[in-house]
Amino acid sequence: MKIIYFISLLLLISIYNSSVNAQLCPNCLKENQSCKDGKFGTCESGTFCAYGSELCTSYIKEGEKCEEGHNYCIPGKRCLEDVNGIYRCIDHSFSNVGEECTLDSDCSTKELNCIKGVCKLNTNQNCLYNDGNCKYNEYCECSSTVYDCICIPIKTEGDSCSTTDECLGGLFCFSSICTKLEILTHGIGSPCTFSGECNSNDGLYCSNGICQEFVEPKSTPCTPNTTSTNQCSKYQSCSCSDETCYQTIPYPPQQNQLTYNGDLNQCAYDNGCALGNYLNYYSSESCVSKNCRKLICEMKSQDYMKQKGDDCGRDAYKLELYYIFILT
Ligand SMILES: *[C@@H]1O[C@H](CO)[C@@H](O)[C@H](O)[C@H]1NC(C)=O
Ligand SMILES: *[C@@H]1O[C@H](CO)[C@@H](O)[C@H](O)[C@H]1NC(C)=O
Repeated sequence: MKIIYFISLLLLISIYNSSVNAQLCPNCLKENQSCKDGKFGTCESGTFCAYGSELCTSYIKEGEKCEEGHNYCIPGKRCLEDVNGIYRCIDHSFSNVGEECTLDSDCSTKELNCIKGVCKLNTNQNCLYNDGNCKYNEYCECSSTVYDCICIPIKTEGDSCSTTDECLGGLFCFSSICTKLEILTHGIGSPCTFSGECNSNDGLYCSNGICQEFVEPKSTPCTPNTTSTNQCSKYQSCSCSDETCYQTIPYPPQQNQLTYNGDLNQCAYDNGCALGNYLNYYSSESCVSKNCRKLICEMKSQDYMKQKGDDCGRDAYKLELYYIFILT
């Protein structure tokens, strides 16, 4: 359960690191153009810089045939044998212990196999440091011996604890109680030294030492392939697909909320969904996706550029790339 919090922090860090160049307008490369070393530009939406050929290459869509060993599938899908033994880009790793499956690859960890339509832990196998091998209300605890792990009931808000590991993700063991970190709520006009002090629920952030309302920048037109650095605000970048500035990093009040947010863990728990280290968050088949999709999208892309109702947004796969990189 801890992994989610860890990932969101890593995600934030990776976004912050790239924020230096956020205002630069990318040199937009079209399909089949060279993207060698990433020096020559950004591959347009729906394409990626393929390892080996170093050409901007279209992702292979869900259900289409693919070549074994080549991962050109759209993020969230993988090139795997389908029920007929044909390699296609298919959904994977969306079911945990006790959940439905058709293929072994539907189960979220390698310790699980699909037996009679249900993901089950292989015989003689324990949870091996992975909460995905335990039920939604348990976590995998290992003794100092590497292979000595068991599933133990997880503690929720208000339960007594001795370490943070025992508490549901997003909670901390504070004064021996699993506790939610509260967002500070200094109001408008209050003095502040960092944005975390101002009430982010009301959209406030710390600017010039005073809590103020954050005004979201608008989506204005921009021109890719220029060296001009001020076409978009520092929270946006110029999109290669329709030459408009879109949000790509969290606004200060969102940064604050993301840092303290355990809502996804709580939503998963309330709906009886196990999370686990290798669950595929982009699959629409998983329990957590069916019940908490909105929260997954917010955590991943902070509502950025949302266009379709249940979709995580127009450029979400850029963020998915960070995510997949971290998860695998
Ligand atoms: C940007 O540059 C690339 C190659 O340098 C070119 O193919 C592309 O059409 C340009 N895009 C725009 C919007 O000018
Ligand atoms: C890119 O190359 C592939 C394979 O050679 C070809 O099928 C495709 O039409 C090309 N795409 C563009 C936009 O030229």
